[in-house]
Amino acid sequence: MSNPDVPADRPARSEWWTDAVVYQIYPRSFADGNGDGMGDLRGVTDRLPYLQQLGVDALWLSPFYKSPQADAGYDVADYRHVDPLFGSLEDFDAMLQEAHQRGLKVIVDLVPNHTSDEHVWFQEALAAAPGSPERGRYIFRQGKDEVPGSGDGDRAPNNWKSIFGGPAWSRITEADGSPGEWYLHLFDTKQPDLNWENTEVQEEMRSVLRFWLDRGADGFRVDVAHGLVKEPGLPDWEGVAAMVEGTPEVRREPSPPGDAPGAHPDAVEPHRAVSPVYPPSPFFDQDGVHDIYRDWNRVLAEYDGDRMMVAEAWVEPAERLARYTRPDEMQQAFNFDFLLAGWDAERMAVAIEASLEAAASVGAPCTWVLSNHDTVRHPTRFGLKDPTTFPKGIASEDEQPDSALGLARARAATLISMALPGSAYLYQGEELGLPEHTTLPAEARQDPTFHRTRGAEIGRDGCRVPLPWTQDAPGYGFAVSGNTGAAPWLPQPESFGPLAADQQDGVEGSTLELYRAVLAFRSARKLGRGSLAWAEVHAPESGVLAFHNGEVLVLGNFGFASAPVPEGYSVVLSSAPEPSSDWSGLDEVPVDCTVYLTRD
Ligand code: GLC
Repeated sequence: MSNPDVPADRPARSEWWTDAVVYQIYPRSFADGNGDGMGDLRGVTDRLPYLQQLGVDALWLSPFYKSPQADAGYDVADYRHVDPLFGSLEDFDAMLQEAHQRGLKVIVDLVPNHTSDEHVWFQEALAAAPGSPERGRYIFRQGKDEVPGSGDGDRAPNNWKSIFGGPAWSRITEADGSPGEWYLHLFDTKQPDLNWENTEVQEEMRSVLRFWLDRGADGFRVDVAHGLVKEPGLPDWEGVAAMVEGTPEVRREPSPPGDAPGAHPDAVEPHRAVSPVYPPSPFFDQDGVHDIYRDWNRVLAEYDGDRMMVAEAWVEPAERLARYTRPDEMQQAFNFDFLLAGWDAERMAVAIEASLEAAASVGAPCTWVLSNHDTVRHPTRFGLKDPTTFPKGIASEDEQPDSALGLARARAATLISMALPGSAYLYQGEELGLPEHTTLPAEARQDPTFHRTRGAEIGRDGCRVPLPWTQDAPGYGFAVSGNTGAAPWLPQPESFGPLAADQQDGVEGSTLELYRAVLAFRSARKLGRGSLAWAEVHAPESGVLAFHNGEVLVLGNFGFASAPVPEGYSVVLSSAPEPSSDWSGLDEVPVDCTVYLTRD
């Protein structure tokens, strides 16, 4: 990919992201450096040797900025400060420096669609009058059919719903105590949407980019990249009904108002679990978002070295997603089609082909993602009766996964994703084979989606549980040595004990050692820079997914019977849990297993 705006005399870029393996750190839950039960930046620094040994190329840190934590930091009150929960700017600088010394790039999260309601801008907007420049930074409107200035607008300006449940509008009380304007929040009430037509907003976010680029950040993960621009006039949306009703079954009977344990004061009518990808809507994937990313691309190009952006954009189809990675926009976008395919050879093959094709059409690398902090962990999803479902959280009264089956499939899926050309994203703990915590008590749940839907949506806490580092330590060693004060902020399930990093380190056949081996193999064979050709034995309808990447043949068996090892090939690596360093004698690929093969 070349950038038309970069002068030709700039040093050649390595475009490291093209094949990078990026490890997502959810700072609250990675490692606790000061023993207060909450992960922090010192914890990250402390564990950098582990990440280097794992063999990843880069880290992406979910938000650690100043925030009231109404949405675990995706509600930013100050884009230029570290929240004391996570440490200080000095801690960030130290972490970044140490990561760079170890050859690891650092991607930070940028949350441009909304701020926290505790951001100084929103506070100023509340104090200012309707129509003021302060209100102009957000999306304030009068109530529907309101006679201007009469204060009688008791209906929301349009019918949009919050992604987290309930209306997408809240009404404020004006400084004089009268019922006032409404503001838009596509997420929680504490996450007011910014007005991206406002030049001050545009300038501020450029300045935030420069702030972190100046500190040495290598890139940005752009939150809700498809949401910044709204259709002019903010029209009602007929798709709202589908979004609210959803297609999947209702999870449970809604409880009466206020009944849910820990009910949020803003609790609203529950709605059903729905797909995270919506049909065309007036608030997502508007063409105008691309002007913003062209602008940011120019900001990044002012810097030496290779800086990048990756879009979090839940859009369909793959061609629409590819528009975010045109040569003068972002460098990557998360491939959620691959994540949503589940454990199913046909669905996965379709997703692989469509995404490679779409990415190639704009000259961008594909990305491969199986889990993140918003989704049920894939070893759990793959252990459900239908391993292609995408539940929005799992509670004790829901179907529980077959954990051994799920883990076997997760390991097999990892071997597939790591052998595909492009860049791969890992979510912290997947290298340990961690499952979702599916039995968290309601009182422990913190995700606003759980509270805003009064439990109709279980939410994302189950994939955000603090990591187990040491089996025989309080909190499974979540607090780094010597700092064993408070319990981890979310309770850990007992199943985490045997999966703790110290139980897997150096143990042949463990998931941790499998990840280390796969990453080393991928790097040595430059699989991320390779290309895919479906193999002769590729037969997804029979559960066999098989492709060549350079000299490596990858065969995943999703079927019901073992698959023969193709003639003339030997297995060099297998996802099967049996410990072995020599697979060459194998002549069959068991079900729920992926192998790498090379010619004899
Ligand atoms: C993104 C984040 C998610 C957050 C939401 C609102 O989808 O990944 O965690 O809740 O944006 O910022």
